[in-house]
Amino acid sequence: MTLHSSATTSTAIHLFGFGTVGEGFYLLLHDAPQAHATISNIVVRSRSKARSLPDSAFQFSPEVTPSPFGAPLVVELIDQADDAFAIVSDALRKQIPAVSANKKMIATYLPQLLQLQESSTASLRYEGAVCGSIPILQLLDSYFGQEPLLSIQGIVNGTTNYILSAMQNNHTSYAEALKQAQGEGYAESDPTSDVKAWDAAYKLTLLNLHAFGEIISPKTILRMGIDTLDHSDLAFAKKKNKRIKLLATAQVVNHKLVTYVLPTFVANDSPFYHVDAEYNAIALEGKNVGQQFFKGKGAGAFPTASAVFADVQQVGKKLGYAYTKRKNPTALAADDASFLKVYIRTRTSALVTELPFASVTEGYIDQDYRYIIGTMSVANLKAYAPLIESDGGIIIAL
Ligand code: HSE
Repeated sequence: MTLHSSATTSTAIHLFGFGTVGEGFYLLLHDAPQAHATISNIVVRSRSKARSLPDSAFQFSPEVTPSPFGAPLVVELIDQADDAFAIVSDALRKQIPAVSANKKMIATYLPQLLQLQESSTASLRYEGAVCGSIPILQLLDSYFGQEPLLSIQGIVNGTTNYILSAMQNNHTSYAEALKQAQGEGYAESDPTSDVKAWDAAYKLTLLNLHAFGEIISPKTILRMGIDTLDHSDLAFAKKKNKRIKLLATAQVVNHKLVTYVLPTFVANDSPFYHVDAEYNAIALEGKNVGQQFFKGKGAGAFPTASAVFADVQQVGKKLGYAYTKRKNPTALAADDASFLKVYIRTRTSALVTELPFASVTEGYIDQDYRYIIGTMSVANLKAYAPLIESDGGIIIAL
C-alpha cells in the first residue's frame, strides 16, 4: 500500500501509531515530496478511534506487530512504552533503522537500547522525545560531544508550561488550562505524566545521557509536579516579582551531577521568565562555550513531527547518535548529598514542623497558609517529596 505518490528512489516508512504526532508526521511528509520518503504502512491498535484517514489506510493490530523483515525504515509513534520498545528493539535486531519520539520508552530502556545499537548496523534516533522542535540531543551529542558541560537547565514540558503561563498571565484556573492544553494536543494521553513531572524526568534522563554520559533512572530523580500548586504559591511568586516555571536541572558540583525536576521561582532577568505557552527552552553552560540559550516549540503535532522528519533523514544515512560522553563520562552519577534552597508549603502543620531543613531563612505558619524557605539535602527532599505531594503541598526551588 502506498499512501501518496513517490519517486522510485523513495524510502518506504513503516509507521506505528497515528495519534497527534503520527498524524502530524504523515501530513508533514505529504507536503515534502523532496524528502523522497513515503509512508508504506500505518499500523494502529484501535478500530474505534476517529481518524482523519479512511480505515483502508490502516493495518489494525491489537497486539504489538513486529517490524517486517526488509522494511526500509521504522517510525514508532505509539503511546505504550513497553510496546514501543518491542517495536524498536525488533527493528534494530533486524538491522532496520528506527525513529521514535517516546521519551518514556527511551528513558526506561536506555541500557538495552545502547546495547542493541552496538550490535546493530542500523541507527536509532529520538530527537522528537526531548523539547519537540529544539534539536538539543543532536547538539549535545554532536557539537558538544567534546565540550565539558557544567550545567543544563530547561523548560522541557509544553503542557505544564502552557498551564503555568495561563494561570499566571491570564488567571485561568488549573483545570481549565489543563483542558486547553489537552485540546491543543500538547498533553500525553494520560496527563498525569505531564503534571506530576514524569514526562520532564524522562526527558532529563535523556539530557543527562547526552550531556554528561550518565544514565540516571527517571525513578531516582528528585521530582515534583505542578498539580498541587495553589493560589497561595502563585500569590507568593507575584509578591516577589517572580514566576513559577517547571524546570529540569542538571549541574556538575565537585565532579558529580546534581539533577532534579522542580517547579522553580524565576526572576524577570532569567531567560526562562518570558518562555510561555507550549514553548520549551534550554540554558546550558560549557567550560569553553560559556552560556547558551535555546528556545522553541516543545509540544504539538508539527514541532515534534518536524524532529521525527529530520531523524528519518539521519537514520536513512546511517547516522545515529555518537554517545561520545557515554564513552567518556564527564561527571559522576547523581550526588544526593548536595543542598538546594527551596520553598516548601504544606497543608498540614504536622508535616511542616518535621521537615529536615539544614537551615531556614524565612517561614510563615498560620491556619490557612504555611511555608518554610531554607536549604535541604537532595536526599531528604527525595524522601519527603511524596509525603509533601500527598499532603497537597509543594516544593518550589529558588
Ligand atoms: N506532553 C509533552 C509535553 C509532549 O507537554 O511536553 C511533548 O513531549
